[in-house]
Amino acid sequence: MEKRNELYRGKAKSVYTTDDADRLVLLFRNDTSAFDGKKVEQLDRKGMVNNKFNAFIMQKLEEAGVPTQFDALLSDNECLVKKLDMIPVECVVRNFAAGSLVRRLGLEEGIELKPSTFELFLKNDALGDPFINESHVEAFGWAKPEQLVEMKALSLKVNQVLSALFDAAGLLLVDFKLEFGVFHGQIVLGDEFSPDGCRLWDKETRKKMDKDRFRQGLGDVIESYEEVARRIGVPL
Ligand code: C5P
Repeated sequence: MEKRNELYRGKAKSVYTTDDADRLVLLFRNDTSAFDGKKVEQLDRKGMVNNKFNAFIMQKLEEAGVPTQFDALLSDNECLVKKLDMIPVECVVRNFAAGSLVRRLGLEEGIELKPSTFELFLKNDALGDPFINESHVEAFGWAKPEQLVEMKALSLKVNQVLSALFDAAGLLLVDFKLEFGVFHGQIVLGDEFSPDGCRLWDKETRKKMDKDRFRQGLGDVIESYEEVARRIGVPL
């Protein structure tokens, strides 16, 4: 497999074509951004930590029957993935109230949500990723109804698998965001799963161990990612 041209440069990852039309290379950079790119910093080791974290989680999800785009780790900062036709919708599952839910509904952070909630956001930087619902997805053709059903079922399955995995490591999976795409007609989990796209709190102390440390200027961002990785057994 040969890495070719940069296809797309996102806020934290770059995507490259390869000599296989069905495969891409993801390069995890040290760039860390929040608030729609208004806060950006370079954090040492972040690309490596997130790449290895993502590889570990995607393999756990595959083992549990969730189809993912992940194929193989290529280097400290790169992995090989399937080339998906991405669906421009972000799926967010929440187990505890935090972030935009707290702001939107005026809740106290940390309230347990039973059952877990499932939310949709349009992936659109210029519009600030607005909150949408299932009828918008259907009306604007962002996904077919049966694809949306599958995305929701897979999101809840991911929640089941990963809540248990983090719980065993003394962590609460507070919420997370997933993106899906289509590969040979099948809905497949795309993008990444890392502490950049989820909230993780220590079960005992509720210390924040995820990107909120960066958003809120709490310090020790990568040290916390590494601590989570160490607790769940990611080889760094
Ligand atoms: O900001 P909000 O509370 O809606 O985020 C919910 C979850 O989705 C958080 O874990 C956050 O890190 C993640 N998220 C993300 N990318 C976005 C929006 C949210 O990874 N564009």
